[in-house]
Amino acid sequence: MTKKILILPGDGIGPEVMGEVERIIDWFNKERGLGAETERDLVGGCAYDAHGQAVSDATMAKAQEADAVLLGAVGGPKWDGVPFDVRPEAGLLRLRKDLELFANLRPALCFPALADASSLKRELVEGLDIMIVRELTGGVYFGEPRGIEDLPNGERRGFDTQVYSTHEVQRIGRVAFDLARKRGNRVTSVEKRNVMHSGVFWHEEMVKLHKAEFSDVTLDHMLADNCGMQLVKQPKQFDVIVTDNLFGDMLSDVAAMLTGSLGMLPSASLGGKDANGKAKALYEPVHGSAPDIAGQGLANPLATILSFAMALRYTFDLSADADLLEKAAETVLAEGYRTGDIMQPGMKKVGTKQMGDAVLAALTKLSA
Ligand code: NAD
Ligand code: IPM
Ligand code: MN
Repeated sequence: MTKKILILPGDGIGPEVMGEVERIIDWFNKERGLGAETERDLVGGCAYDAHGQAVSDATMAKAQEADAVLLGAVGGPKWDGVPFDVRPEAGLLRLRKDLELFANLRPALCFPALADASSLKRELVEGLDIMIVRELTGGVYFGEPRGIEDLPNGERRGFDTQVYSTHEVQRIGRVAFDLARKRGNRVTSVEKRNVMHSGVFWHEEMVKLHKAEFSDVTLDHMLADNCGMQLVKQPKQFDVIVTDNLFGDMLSDVAAMLTGSLGMLPSASLGGKDANGKAKALYEPVHGSAPDIAGQGLANPLATILSFAMALRYTFDLSADADLLEKAAETVLAEGYRTGDIMQPGMKKVGTKQMGDAVLAALTKLSA
């Protein structure tokens, strides 16, 4: 059956890095019989420019239909002044929320060739393999009430609400425990129960779930501020980290630097199912639109390419193809190809397109 992939390149470096993924999809169609049909559409600032909304209802309908959605990045200084509800980032948040993609998997893996590209010492990151499981459709990102209001005394205030309910914590906990069973069998649940009621609640629910369904998995708890510190002190202590929407956002950017660059970290957003039980999914790099380097062909496409590898694994159940693409990324790094963000002395400096060329060449070589 045809595999339908909706491609939303977005803004800034999004279209540049996604261009390389499109060439890789073509390669898998031709060489591995993937049978994917792709369609491009708008999300983010470019969608706002086209029709005044960060994602249109028509695009949402296509996303609901697709087997997988691939997203580049959204946002940029051009849209700094647009109304909050239609800012580029709102398009991405609507996709996550409406498709009910509550589980965001952000693997931080240090490729052997990049062990010296991290801002940490080689021995701290060599062999690093952490899975951050970020709750993606709840918490302070969506909690009500939220807004900015005038007060009678002439002051103004801005407010957001951090809120989680039982089913939200349980379902993200199950994803984390299930993943841990296939890896190092360890989950670290991260919150701030010393300050926040929602943190106390998160902790209680994780403990209950662990006791009821996953007592074979080791569960630890860590306060979020300490977790940020421990990630740069001793990152290899972690196996699976499960945390809320906001802490997960911040801790995954921290984890990205352990692997050499934000340009290396892929992600999969999973969880939603349609009425027929078909799983929905969105794949996107952890990085943003990188306005500082956009339009220059300098961006590292590997995070987006590795996000497509996650699509091959999680949506299409093609683990051999996913392994092949991940191996190709590892190979080009071992061969010395480096975009600016991961450049090291003596290596071959390349742009976005040449990195894509190198991955395609490695795919051909590895599958010969
Ligand atoms: P950013 O991730 O865009 O960039 C942070 C830094 O990392 C920059 O110096 C950038 O050049 C570098 N970088 C990021 N990706 C890179 C890549 N692939 N190759 C090389 N270098 C890379 O974060 P920011 O500057 O804080 O945000 C810019 C815009 O992107 C904002 O509008 C923000 O809301 C948006 N954003 C979008 C997403 C998304 O679409 N998923 C994620 C994060 C930020
Ligand atoms: C991410 C981004 C998004 C987030 C923004 C662009 C809405 O930072 O995917 O990490 O905060 O979730
Ligand atoms: Mn982020």
